[in-house]
Amino acid sequence: MQRFDGKVAIVTGGARGIGAAIVARLVADGAKVLVADLSEPTSLPAGAEFARTDVTRASDSAALVADAMQRWGRLDFLVNNAGIGSVGETPDLAEEDWDRVFAVNTKAVYLCCKAAIPAIRRSGGGAIVNVASIAGLFADYATDAYNASKGAVINYTRTLALNGAADGIRVNALCPGLIETEMGAGAVADPIDREFWMERIPLGRTGRPEEMAGVATFLLSDDASYVTGAIIAADGGVTAHTGQPNVRQRQRLRALRQASLN
Ligand SMILES: NC(=O)c1ccc[n+]([C@@H]2O[C@H](COP(=O)([O-])OP(=O)(O)OC[C@H]3O[C@@H](n4cnc5c(N)ncnc54)[C@H](O)[C@@H]3O)[C@@H](O)[C@H]2O)c1
Repeated sequence: MQRFDGKVAIVTGGARGIGAAIVARLVADGAKVLVADLSEPTSLPAGAEFARTDVTRASDSAALVADAMQRWGRLDFLVNNAGIGSVGETPDLAEEDWDRVFAVNTKAVYLCCKAAIPAIRRSGGGAIVNVASIAGLFADYATDAYNASKGAVINYTRTLALNGAADGIRVNALCPGLIETEMGAGAVADPIDREFWMERIPLGRTGRPEEMAGVATFLLSDDASYVTGAIIAADGGVTAHTGQPNVRQRQRLRALRQASLN
């Protein structure tokens, strides 16, 4: 008996990266999974099916849920993982870019929840995980639309959790730090950039998609039966930091300077 035997899940943006790792973990633990993505994954594990979906379209989200219900007769879990990045400061940020980021990262969460919640309710309750970002908890420089879109998802998660409680639907948010996927890898492709990033990650490394899947599937599982409305950072310790200067590093530099003077 596996923990997700008999369970049915939808994972948006499940064709690659964090979403694909969540799909792999769900099916490995017994679930049937509908992978909703713009593009078909290069391979699908047994137990998973693909549904070409643009999560920004209400008709696609509705069709997705209907597809899962038709295939397996129930829906237990929704993982709103599809997302896009965006770089730009407000004065230079095109209105279309802002709208696109909000359409994929924020509005699509609403559209998929709107379609899925009645089905999850009819199945006797379940769980939703919204993949937000630590950039929704605190701000980063020059990623205005992304930060705002993920911040909205975080507070939306809390209200969904309040509304879903009476129906036995738990809703939580996962906030990844820097994860090596197509989206995350660019930041650390260059060795100098990598060093710059590593200095700011207490665990001293980027995260792996499988590590996000571990947290997401914990939140879906009965092990998290008393967890709802929680916003969980999985970021190697980045958000444990106030952002103030690293005193240990400063002491080391001071000692080095002193040694070179002696
Ligand atoms: N990688 C990181 O460092 C990182 C950090 C924090 C948060 N996140 C979040 O994690 C989630 C997954 O990111 P990732 O790194 O795996 O990204 P990724 O770019 O590797 O994968 C994203 C997937 O979403 C799909 N997608 C994009 N727009 C879509 C649409 N309109 N409809 C359907 N599918 C769509 C893409 O086709 C792709 O398969 C995103 O929400 C992202 O914001 C990632």
